[in-house]
Amino acid sequence: MPAENETIRQLREAVSISPENVPLRLHLASTLSASGFLDEAEAEYRAALEHQPGSAACLTGLARVYYRLGKNSQALVILEDLVRRREATAEAHVLYSRLLMLEGDVSSAVAQYKLGVEIDDAAADEEFAAQLGITADEEEDPLDEREVVDGRIRQGAFHSGGIKWDKEIERPKIRFDDVGGMEALKDDIRMKIIFPIQHPELYAAYGKTAGGGIMMYGPPGCGKTYFARATAGEIDAAFISVGINDVLEMWLGNSERNLHGLFELARNNTPCVLFFDEADALGGRRSDMSGGSSRQVINQFLAELDGVECSNEGVLVLAATNAPWHVDAAFRRPGRFDQVLFVPPPDAEAREAILKIHCRGKPIESIDFAKVAKKAERFSGADLKAIVDVAVEAKLRESLKAGKPQPLSTSDLLAAARKLKPTTQEWFATARNYALYSNQGGVYDDVMKYLNL
Ligand SMILES: Nc1ncnc2c1ncn2[C@@H]1O[C@H](COP(=O)(O)OP(=O)(O)OP(=O)(O)O)[C@@H](O)[C@H]1O
Ligand SMILES: [Mg+2]
Repeated sequence: MPAENETIRQLREAVSISPENVPLRLHLASTLSASGFLDEAEAEYRAALEHQPGSAACLTGLARVYYRLGKNSQALVILEDLVRRREATAEAHVLYSRLLMLEGDVSSAVAQYKLGVEIDDAAADEEFAAQLGITADEEEDPLDEREVVDGRIRQGAFHSGGIKWDKEIERPKIRFDDVGGMEALKDDIRMKIIFPIQHPELYAAYGKTAGGGIMMYGPPGCGKTYFARATAGEIDAAFISVGINDVLEMWLGNSERNLHGLFELARNNTPCVLFFDEADALGGRRSDMSGGSSRQVINQFLAELDGVECSNEGVLVLAATNAPWHVDAAFRRPGRFDQVLFVPPPDAEAREAILKIHCRGKPIESIDFAKVAKKAERFSGADLKAIVDVAVEAKLRESLKAGKPQPLSTSDLLAAARKLKPTTQEWFATARNYALYSNQGGVYDDVMKYLNL
Protein backbone atom coordinates (compact mmCIF):
# COMPACT_ATOMS: atom_id res chain seq x y z
CA MET A 1 0.00 0.00 0.00
CA PRO A 2 1.39 3.44 -0.91
CA ALA A 3 2.10 5.89 1.85
CA GLU A 4 -0.54 8.54 2.35
CA ASN A 5 0.58 11.58 0.43
CA GLU A 6 1.01 15.19 1.42
CA THR A 7 -2.46 16.28 0.28
CA ILE A 8 -4.07 13.60 2.37
CA ARG A 9 -1.98 14.55 5.37
CA GLN A 10 -3.05 18.17 5.09
CA LEU A 11 -6.69 17.22 4.65
CA ARG A 12 -6.53 15.00 7.71
CA GLU A 13 -5.10 17.83 9.72
CA ALA A 14 -7.86 20.17 8.55
CA VAL A 15 -10.52 17.61 9.43
CA SER A 16 -9.05 17.14 12.89
CA ILE A 17 -9.33 20.88 13.44
CA SER A 18 -12.97 21.07 12.28
CA PRO A 19 -14.36 17.55 12.61
CA GLU A 20 -17.92 18.69 11.93
CA ASN A 21 -17.15 20.09 8.52
CA VAL A 22 -18.83 17.44 6.39
CA PRO A 23 -17.85 18.75 2.94
CA LEU A 24 -14.24 18.81 4.05
CA ARG A 25 -14.46 15.26 5.34
CA LEU A 26 -16.11 14.15 2.11
CA HIS A 27 -13.24 15.69 0.23
CA LEU A 28 -10.80 13.73 2.37
CA ALA A 29 -12.82 10.54 1.86
CA SER A 30 -12.94 10.85 -1.90
CA THR A 31 -9.23 11.70 -2.06
CA LEU A 32 -8.48 8.61 0.03
CA SER A 33 -10.68 6.54 -2.22
CA ALA A 34 -9.07 7.91 -5.37
CA SER A 35 -5.63 7.07 -4.00
CA GLY A 36 -6.67 3.50 -3.25
CA PHE A 37 -7.02 3.82 0.54
CA LEU A 38 -10.41 2.21 0.50
CA ASP A 39 -10.69 1.14 4.14
CA GLU A 40 -9.64 4.59 5.26
CA ALA A 41 -12.13 6.15 2.87
CA GLU A 42 -14.88 3.93 4.26
CA ALA A 43 -14.05 5.12 7.79
CA GLU A 44 -14.27 8.78 6.73
CA TYR A 45 -17.58 8.34 4.93
CA ARG A 46 -18.98 6.63 8.00
CA ALA A 47 -17.73 9.43 10.21
CA ALA A 48 -19.29 11.98 7.86
CA LEU A 49 -22.60 10.11 8.10
CA GLU A 50 -22.50 10.40 11.87
CA HIS A 51 -22.49 14.16 11.49
CA GLN A 52 -25.03 14.19 8.71
CA PRO A 53 -27.16 11.04 8.87
CA GLY A 54 -28.86 10.08 5.62
CA SER A 55 -26.81 12.46 3.50
CA ALA A 56 -27.09 11.34 -0.10
CA ALA A 57 -23.56 12.48 -0.93
CA CYS A 58 -22.05 10.51 1.96
CA LEU A 59 -24.12 7.44 1.16
CA THR A 60 -23.23 7.51 -2.51
CA GLY A 61 -19.53 7.78 -1.64
CA LEU A 62 -19.82 4.93 0.81
CA ALA A 63 -21.64 2.77 -1.73
CA ARG A 64 -18.89 3.48 -4.26
CA VAL A 65 -16.24 2.36 -1.77
CA TYR A 66 -18.20 -0.76 -0.85
CA TYR A 67 -18.50 -1.61 -4.51
CA ARG A 68 -14.76 -1.31 -4.99
CA LEU A 69 -14.17 -3.38 -1.88
CA GLY A 70 -16.41 -6.08 -3.29
CA LYS A 71 -18.95 -5.58 -0.48
CA ASN A 72 -21.72 -5.69 -3.02
CA SER A 73 -24.65 -6.42 -0.80
CA GLN A 74 -23.84 -3.47 1.45
CA ALA A 75 -23.58 -1.25 -1.61
CA LEU A 76 -26.90 -2.57 -2.93
CA VAL A 77 -28.72 -1.84 0.30
CA ILE A 78 -27.55 1.76 0.31
CA LEU A 79 -28.34 2.36 -3.35
CA GLU A 80 -31.72 0.71 -3.19
CA ASP A 81 -32.58 3.06 -0.38
CA LEU A 82 -31.31 6.13 -2.21
CA VAL A 83 -33.31 5.24 -5.28
CA ARG A 84 -36.39 4.65 -3.19
CA ARG A 85 -35.97 8.03 -1.56
CA ARG A 86 -35.40 9.51 -5.01
CA GLU A 87 -32.14 10.97 -3.92
CA ALA A 88 -29.99 8.94 -6.24
CA THR A 89 -27.63 10.95 -8.40
CA ALA A 90 -26.73 9.92 -11.92
CA GLU A 91 -23.65 8.19 -10.55
CA ALA A 92 -25.72 6.32 -7.96
CA HIS A 93 -28.14 5.03 -10.60
CA VAL A 94 -25.31 3.79 -12.79
CA LEU A 95 -23.54 2.17 -9.86
CA TYR A 96 -26.80 0.53 -8.86
CA SER A 97 -27.13 -0.66 -12.43
CA ARG A 98 -23.68 -2.30 -12.28
CA LEU A 99 -24.59 -4.12 -9.11
CA LEU A 100 -27.93 -5.29 -10.51
CA MET A 101 -26.09 -6.55 -13.55
CA LEU A 102 -23.76 -8.54 -11.30
CA GLU A 103 -26.86 -10.03 -9.73
CA GLY A 104 -28.05 -11.07 -13.17
CA ASP A 105 -31.02 -8.72 -13.13
CA VAL A 106 -30.48 -7.32 -16.58
CA SER A 107 -33.71 -5.52 -17.21
CA SER A 108 -33.57 -3.60 -13.94
CA ALA A 109 -29.94 -2.82 -14.65
CA VAL A 110 -30.95 -1.37 -18.00
CA ALA A 111 -33.69 0.71 -16.39
CA GLN A 112 -31.33 2.10 -13.75
CA TYR A 113 -28.62 2.85 -16.25
CA LYS A 114 -31.08 4.80 -18.36
CA LEU A 115 -32.32 6.75 -15.38
CA GLY A 116 -28.75 7.69 -14.56
CA VAL A 117 -27.88 8.82 -18.06
CA GLU A 118 -31.15 10.70 -18.24
CA ILE A 119 -30.11 12.74 -15.22
CA ASP A 120 -26.62 13.36 -16.52
CA ASP A 121 -25.04 12.19 -19.79
CA ALA A 122 -21.67 12.35 -18.13
CA ALA A 123 -22.54 9.20 -16.18
CA ALA A 124 -22.69 7.21 -19.42
CA ASP A 125 -20.22 4.39 -19.92
CA GLU A 126 -20.24 3.01 -23.42
CA GLU A 127 -18.53 -0.21 -22.57
CA PHE A 128 -20.94 -0.98 -19.78
CA ALA A 129 -23.88 0.11 -21.92
CA ALA A 130 -22.77 -2.40 -24.55
CA GLN A 131 -22.71 -5.12 -21.90
CA LEU A 132 -26.25 -4.16 -21.02
CA GLY A 133 -27.19 -4.47 -24.67
CA ILE A 134 -27.96 -0.78 -25.00
CA THR A 135 -26.72 0.52 -28.31
CA ALA A 136 -26.27 4.12 -29.24
CA ASP A 137 -29.55 4.31 -31.14
CA GLU A 138 -31.44 3.11 -28.07
CA GLU A 139 -32.71 -0.10 -29.64
CA GLU A 140 -31.88 -2.65 -27.06
CA ASP A 141 -32.78 -6.14 -26.13
CA PRO A 142 -32.05 -6.44 -22.45
CA LEU A 143 -33.77 -9.77 -22.23
CA ASP A 144 -31.13 -11.88 -23.90
CA GLU A 145 -30.86 -13.68 -20.64
CA ARG A 146 -34.46 -14.65 -20.56
CA GLU A 147 -35.13 -18.12 -19.62
CA VAL A 148 -38.02 -20.03 -21.08
CA VAL A 149 -39.92 -22.11 -18.59
CA ASP A 150 -42.76 -24.09 -20.11
CA GLY A 151 -43.54 -21.54 -22.74
CA ARG A 152 -43.34 -18.65 -20.33
CA ILE A 153 -40.54 -16.20 -20.08
CA ARG A 154 -39.57 -15.63 -16.53
CA GLN A 155 -37.90 -12.47 -15.73
CA GLY A 156 -35.95 -11.91 -12.62
CA ALA A 157 -37.09 -9.62 -9.90
CA PHE A 158 -37.84 -6.32 -11.44
CA HIS A 159 -36.41 -3.55 -9.34
CA SER A 160 -37.91 -0.29 -10.00
CA GLY A 161 -37.52 2.57 -7.69
CA GLY A 162 -36.09 0.23 -5.11
CA ILE A 163 -39.10 -2.01 -4.90
CA LYS A 164 -38.57 -5.61 -5.67
CA TRP A 165 -41.33 -6.65 -7.93
CA ASP A 166 -41.70 -9.82 -9.87
CA LYS A 167 -43.13 -9.28 -13.27
CA GLU A 168 -43.62 -12.05 -15.67
CA ILE A 169 -43.71 -11.86 -19.41
CA GLU A 170 -46.04 -14.44 -20.81
CA ARG A 171 -46.34 -15.92 -24.25
CA PRO A 172 -49.98 -16.93 -24.31
CA LYS A 173 -50.89 -19.99 -26.31
CA ILE A 174 -54.55 -19.17 -26.98
CA ARG A 175 -55.43 -17.32 -30.17
CA PHE A 176 -58.50 -15.68 -31.72
CA ASP A 177 -59.64 -19.16 -32.77
CA ASP A 178 -60.11 -19.99 -29.13
CA VAL A 179 -62.38 -17.02 -28.54
CA GLY A 180 -66.04 -17.38 -29.45
CA GLY A 181 -67.71 -14.25 -30.79
CA MET A 182 -66.21 -10.83 -29.93
CA GLU A 183 -65.88 -10.16 -33.64
CA ALA A 184 -65.93 -6.37 -33.36
CA LEU A 185 -63.06 -6.45 -30.90
CA LYS A 186 -61.08 -8.83 -33.07
CA ASP A 187 -61.51 -6.40 -35.96
CA ASP A 188 -60.29 -3.48 -33.91
CA ILE A 189 -57.21 -5.40 -32.89
CA ARG A 190 -56.47 -6.25 -36.48
CA MET A 191 -56.63 -2.58 -37.43
CA LYS A 192 -54.57 -1.42 -34.50
CA ILE A 193 -51.75 -3.88 -34.48
CA ILE A 194 -51.94 -6.78 -36.91
CA PHE A 195 -52.28 -4.84 -40.16
CA PRO A 196 -49.82 -2.11 -39.14
CA ILE A 197 -47.20 -4.80 -38.60
CA GLN A 198 -48.03 -6.46 -41.91
CA HIS A 199 -48.29 -3.23 -43.92
CA PRO A 200 -46.05 -0.70 -42.24
CA GLU A 201 -45.64 1.46 -45.39
CA LEU A 202 -49.36 1.88 -45.81
CA TYR A 203 -49.83 2.90 -42.20
CA ALA A 204 -46.84 5.22 -42.32
CA ALA A 205 -48.37 6.98 -45.32
CA TYR A 206 -51.34 7.89 -43.15
CA GLY A 207 -49.16 8.74 -40.20
CA LYS A 208 -50.35 5.75 -38.19
CA THR A 209 -48.25 3.31 -36.24
CA ALA A 210 -48.80 -0.04 -34.62
CA GLY A 211 -50.23 0.10 -31.14
CA GLY A 212 -52.72 2.12 -29.20
CA GLY A 213 -55.18 1.53 -26.46
CA ILE A 214 -58.50 -0.21 -26.03
CA MET A 215 -60.49 -0.29 -22.85
CA MET A 216 -63.00 -3.10 -22.45
CA TYR A 217 -65.84 -3.02 -19.98
CA GLY A 218 -68.74 -5.27 -19.20
CA PRO A 219 -70.16 -7.90 -16.89
CA PRO A 220 -67.92 -10.51 -15.29
CA GLY A 221 -66.94 -13.66 -17.11
CA CYS A 222 -67.56 -12.38 -20.61
CA GLY A 223 -64.03 -12.84 -21.80
CA LYS A 224 -62.22 -9.56 -21.27
CA THR A 225 -59.17 -11.10 -19.65
CA TYR A 226 -59.34 -14.14 -21.87
CA PHE A 227 -59.51 -11.97 -24.97
CA ALA A 228 -56.50 -9.90 -23.91
CA ARG A 229 -54.41 -13.07 -23.66
CA ALA A 230 -55.71 -14.36 -26.97
CA THR A 231 -54.71 -11.07 -28.60
CA ALA A 232 -51.11 -11.55 -27.57
CA GLY A 233 -51.26 -15.18 -28.72
CA GLU A 234 -52.72 -14.17 -32.06
CA ILE A 235 -49.88 -11.79 -32.88
CA ASP A 236 -47.15 -13.82 -31.14
CA ALA A 237 -46.60 -10.92 -28.85
CA ALA A 238 -45.30 -10.75 -25.34
CA PHE A 239 -48.01 -10.38 -22.73
CA ILE A 240 -47.62 -8.44 -19.53
CA SER A 241 -50.57 -8.56 -17.21
CA VAL A 242 -50.91 -5.97 -14.49
CA GLY A 243 -53.44 -6.90 -11.87
CA ILE A 244 -54.96 -5.19 -8.94
CA ASN A 245 -52.23 -6.29 -6.57
CA ASP A 246 -49.56 -4.80 -8.77
CA VAL A 247 -51.52 -1.58 -8.78
CA LEU A 248 -51.85 -1.54 -5.02
CA GLU A 249 -48.15 -2.14 -4.71
CA MET A 250 -47.60 0.75 -7.03
CA TRP A 251 -49.72 2.96 -4.87
CA LEU A 252 -47.87 1.99 -1.77
CA GLY A 253 -44.47 2.24 -3.27
CA ASN A 254 -42.66 4.27 -5.76
CA SER A 255 -45.58 4.33 -8.11
CA GLU A 256 -44.48 6.48 -10.96
CA ARG A 257 -41.17 4.72 -11.33
CA ASN A 258 -42.87 1.33 -11.20
CA LEU A 259 -45.36 2.37 -13.80
CA HIS A 260 -42.60 3.74 -15.97
CA GLY A 261 -40.67 0.50 -15.50
CA LEU A 262 -43.67 -1.49 -16.68
CA PHE A 263 -44.11 0.54 -19.82
CA GLU A 264 -40.37 0.30 -20.45
CA LEU A 265 -40.55 -3.46 -20.09
CA ALA A 266 -43.31 -3.46 -22.70
CA ARG A 267 -41.44 -1.09 -25.03
CA ASN A 268 -38.36 -3.29 -24.80
CA ASN A 269 -40.34 -6.36 -25.78
CA THR A 270 -42.40 -5.27 -28.77
CA PRO A 271 -44.70 -6.42 -30.11
CA CYS A 272 -46.23 -6.49 -26.71
CA VAL A 273 -49.68 -6.47 -25.17
CA LEU A 274 -49.63 -4.60 -21.90
CA PHE A 275 -52.81 -5.50 -20.09
CA PHE A 276 -54.27 -3.60 -17.15
CA ASP A 277 -56.89 -5.76 -15.55
CA GLU A 278 -59.35 -4.09 -13.20
CA ALA A 279 -58.28 -0.78 -14.60
CA ASP A 280 -60.75 1.13 -12.45
CA ALA A 281 -58.37 0.53 -9.55
CA LEU A 282 -55.61 2.24 -11.45
CA GLY A 283 -57.53 4.98 -13.11
CA GLY A 284 -60.09 5.99 -10.55
CA ARG A 285 -61.60 9.36 -11.31
CA ARG A 286 -59.17 12.04 -10.34
CA SER A 287 -61.95 13.91 -8.64
CA ASP A 288 -62.52 10.89 -6.37
CA MET A 289 -58.97 10.97 -5.21
CA SER A 290 -58.06 12.85 -2.16
CA GLY A 291 -54.46 11.76 -1.79
CA GLY A 292 -51.83 13.33 -3.98
CA SER A 293 -50.09 10.06 -4.68
CA SER A 294 -52.98 8.40 -6.46
CA ARG A 295 -53.39 11.46 -8.60
CA GLN A 296 -49.74 11.21 -9.45
CA VAL A 297 -50.23 7.61 -10.53
CA ILE A 298 -52.98 8.63 -12.91
CA ASN A 299 -51.02 11.50 -14.34
CA GLN A 300 -48.00 9.30 -14.81
CA PHE A 301 -50.17 6.65 -16.39
CA LEU A 302 -51.57 9.19 -18.83
CA ALA A 303 -48.10 10.44 -19.67
CA GLU A 304 -46.93 6.88 -20.33
CA LEU A 305 -49.97 6.23 -22.52
CA ASP A 306 -49.27 9.38 -24.46
CA GLY A 307 -45.72 8.17 -24.92
CA VAL A 308 -44.49 11.57 -23.85
CA GLU A 309 -40.90 10.53 -23.46
CA CYS A 310 -40.75 7.30 -25.37
CA SER A 311 -42.55 5.90 -28.34
CA ASN A 312 -45.20 3.31 -27.70
CA GLU A 313 -44.90 1.89 -31.19
CA GLY A 314 -45.64 -1.81 -31.12
CA VAL A 315 -47.19 -1.66 -27.68
CA LEU A 316 -50.87 -2.41 -27.51
CA VAL A 317 -52.33 -1.29 -24.23
CA LEU A 318 -55.48 -3.14 -23.26
CA ALA A 319 -57.45 -2.50 -20.13
CA ALA A 320 -60.49 -4.16 -18.65
CA THR A 321 -62.95 -3.12 -16.02
CA ASN A 322 -66.32 -4.04 -14.55
CA ALA A 323 -66.76 -0.50 -13.29
CA PRO A 324 -66.16 1.90 -16.17
CA TRP A 325 -68.03 4.58 -14.22
CA HIS A 326 -65.08 4.73 -11.86
CA VAL A 327 -62.59 5.34 -14.62
CA ASP A 328 -61.33 8.85 -15.14
CA ALA A 329 -62.68 10.46 -18.30
CA ALA A 330 -59.16 11.60 -19.18
CA PHE A 331 -58.44 8.01 -20.13
CA ARG A 332 -60.89 8.23 -22.98
CA ARG A 333 -59.15 11.05 -24.80
CA PRO A 334 -57.91 10.31 -28.31
CA GLY A 335 -54.58 8.58 -28.43
CA ARG A 336 -55.10 7.00 -25.05
CA PHE A 337 -57.88 4.46 -24.77
CA ASP A 338 -59.41 5.84 -27.89
CA GLN A 339 -61.77 2.92 -27.96
CA VAL A 340 -63.88 2.11 -24.97
CA LEU A 341 -65.76 -1.00 -25.89
CA PHE A 342 -68.64 -2.78 -24.27
CA VAL A 343 -68.11 -6.53 -24.03
CA PRO A 344 -71.62 -7.91 -23.68
CA PRO A 345 -72.61 -11.45 -22.83
CA PRO A 346 -72.28 -13.51 -26.00
CA ASP A 347 -75.19 -13.64 -28.44
CA ALA A 348 -76.64 -16.99 -29.56
CA GLU A 349 -74.09 -17.46 -32.32
CA ALA A 350 -71.18 -16.63 -30.02
CA ARG A 351 -72.59 -18.88 -27.31
CA GLU A 352 -72.62 -21.74 -29.77
CA ALA A 353 -69.01 -21.03 -30.71
CA ILE A 354 -67.94 -20.82 -27.07
CA LEU A 355 -69.62 -24.12 -26.21
CA LYS A 356 -67.86 -25.76 -29.15
CA ILE A 357 -64.51 -24.35 -28.08
CA HIS A 358 -64.87 -25.72 -24.59
CA CYS A 359 -65.95 -29.15 -25.86
CA ARG A 360 -62.90 -29.43 -28.10
CA GLY A 361 -60.84 -32.51 -27.48
CA LYS A 362 -63.47 -34.12 -25.27
CA PRO A 363 -65.33 -37.32 -26.09
CA ILE A 364 -68.61 -36.09 -27.60
CA GLU A 365 -71.30 -37.45 -29.87
CA SER A 366 -72.91 -35.16 -32.42
CA ILE A 367 -74.18 -32.30 -30.31
CA ASP A 368 -76.80 -29.75 -31.24
CA PHE A 369 -74.83 -26.76 -29.98
CA ALA A 370 -77.36 -24.28 -31.37
CA LYS A 371 -80.06 -25.82 -29.21
CA VAL A 372 -77.95 -25.60 -26.07
CA ALA A 373 -76.96 -22.03 -26.92
CA LYS A 374 -80.60 -21.08 -27.24
CA LYS A 375 -81.31 -22.42 -23.75
CA ALA A 376 -78.41 -20.44 -22.30
CA GLU A 377 -79.66 -16.92 -22.81
CA ARG A 378 -77.70 -14.26 -20.88
CA PHE A 379 -75.01 -16.77 -19.94
CA SER A 380 -71.50 -15.37 -19.92
CA GLY A 381 -68.53 -17.15 -21.49
CA ALA A 382 -67.54 -18.33 -18.04
CA ASP A 383 -71.08 -19.61 -17.42
CA LEU A 384 -70.96 -21.55 -20.69
CA LYS A 385 -67.65 -23.05 -19.70
CA ALA A 386 -69.30 -24.05 -16.42
CA ILE A 387 -72.05 -25.85 -18.38
CA VAL A 388 -69.42 -27.96 -20.10
CA ASP A 389 -67.53 -28.55 -16.83
CA VAL A 390 -70.66 -29.66 -14.98
CA ALA A 391 -71.70 -31.96 -17.84
CA VAL A 392 -68.21 -33.44 -18.05
CA GLU A 393 -68.18 -34.16 -14.36
CA ALA A 394 -71.51 -35.97 -14.51
CA LYS A 395 -70.25 -37.92 -17.52
CA LEU A 396 -67.10 -38.92 -15.72
CA ARG A 397 -69.11 -40.45 -12.91
CA GLU A 398 -71.17 -42.40 -15.44
CA SER A 399 -68.06 -43.53 -17.28
CA LEU A 400 -66.45 -44.75 -14.08
CA LYS A 401 -69.57 -46.76 -13.31
CA ALA A 402 -69.77 -48.15 -16.82
CA GLY A 403 -66.06 -48.86 -16.92
CA LYS A 404 -65.61 -47.09 -20.28
CA PRO A 405 -65.75 -43.49 -21.54
CA GLN A 406 -69.23 -42.23 -22.30
CA PRO A 407 -69.46 -39.42 -24.88
CA LEU A 408 -71.09 -36.11 -23.99
CA SER A 409 -74.46 -35.54 -25.59
CA THR A 410 -76.86 -32.67 -26.21
CA SER A 411 -79.04 -33.73 -23.31
CA ASP A 412 -76.05 -33.74 -20.94
CA LEU A 413 -75.34 -30.12 -21.81
CA LEU A 414 -78.99 -29.16 -21.55
CA ALA A 415 -79.24 -30.80 -18.13
CA ALA A 416 -76.16 -28.92 -16.96
CA ALA A 417 -77.57 -25.63 -18.31
CA ARG A 418 -80.73 -26.14 -16.29
CA LYS A 419 -78.70 -26.49 -13.12
CA LEU A 420 -76.90 -23.19 -13.66
CA LYS A 421 -77.94 -19.55 -13.67
CA PRO A 422 -76.38 -16.73 -15.63
CA THR A 423 -74.10 -14.60 -13.48
CA THR A 424 -74.36 -11.40 -15.49
CA GLN A 425 -77.64 -10.04 -14.14
CA GLU A 426 -76.36 -8.25 -11.10
CA TRP A 427 -73.93 -6.24 -13.17
CA PHE A 428 -76.68 -5.08 -15.48
CA ALA A 429 -78.73 -3.87 -12.55
CA THR A 430 -75.95 -1.44 -11.69
CA ALA A 431 -75.01 -0.61 -15.27
CA ARG A 432 -78.62 0.24 -16.06
CA ASN A 433 -78.57 3.11 -13.59
CA TYR A 434 -75.38 4.56 -14.95
CA ALA A 435 -76.60 4.18 -18.52
CA LEU A 436 -79.84 5.97 -17.66
CA TYR A 437 -78.54 8.71 -15.40
CA SER A 438 -74.95 9.37 -16.23
CA ASN A 439 -74.50 8.63 -19.87
CA GLN A 440 -72.46 11.74 -20.69
CA GLY A 441 -71.21 11.76 -24.24
CA GLY A 442 -73.14 8.58 -24.89
CA VAL A 443 -70.47 6.38 -23.36
CA TYR A 444 -73.01 3.78 -22.34
CA ASP A 445 -75.06 3.81 -25.54
CA ASP A 446 -74.07 0.21 -26.20
CA VAL A 447 -75.33 -0.82 -22.79
CA MET A 448 -78.61 1.04 -23.44
CA LYS A 449 -78.96 -0.74 -26.74
CA TYR A 450 -78.24 -4.09 -25.17
CA LEU A 451 -80.88 -3.47 -22.50
CA ASN A 452 -83.38 -2.08 -25.03
CA LEU A 453 -83.65 1.15 -23.08
N1 LIG B 1 -65.60 -15.50 -25.85
C1 LIG B 1 -65.14 -16.55 -25.17
N2 LIG B 1 -64.69 -17.64 -25.81
C2 LIG B 1 -64.24 -18.70 -25.11
N3 LIG B 1 -64.19 -18.77 -23.78
C3 LIG B 1 -64.62 -17.72 -23.08
C4 LIG B 1 -65.12 -16.55 -23.72
N4 LIG B 1 -65.48 -15.66 -22.81
C5 LIG B 1 -65.20 -16.23 -21.61
N5 LIG B 1 -64.70 -17.46 -21.76
C6 LIG B 1 -64.31 -18.39 -20.70
O1 LIG B 1 -64.65 -17.81 -19.48
C7 LIG B 1 -63.51 -17.62 -18.65
C8 LIG B 1 -63.63 -16.33 -17.88
O2 LIG B 1 -63.53 -15.23 -18.77
P1 LIG B 1 -62.69 -13.94 -18.38
O3 LIG B 1 -61.93 -14.18 -17.15
O4 LIG B 1 -61.95 -13.50 -19.56
O5 LIG B 1 -63.86 -12.92 -18.06
P2 LIG B 1 -63.73 -11.38 -17.72
O6 LIG B 1 -64.62 -10.65 -18.66
O7 LIG B 1 -62.33 -10.97 -17.65
O8 LIG B 1 -64.40 -11.34 -16.29
P3 LIG B 1 -64.11 -10.36 -15.07
O9 LIG B 1 -64.80 -9.08 -15.42
O10 LIG B 1 -64.76 -11.06 -13.91
O11 LIG B 1 -62.64 -10.23 -14.95
C9 LIG B 1 -62.34 -17.66 -19.60
O12 LIG B 1 -61.19 -18.12 -18.96
C10 LIG B 1 -62.83 -18.62 -20.67
O13 LIG B 1 -62.59 -19.95 -20.29
MG1 LIG C 1 -61.13 -10.42 -16.07
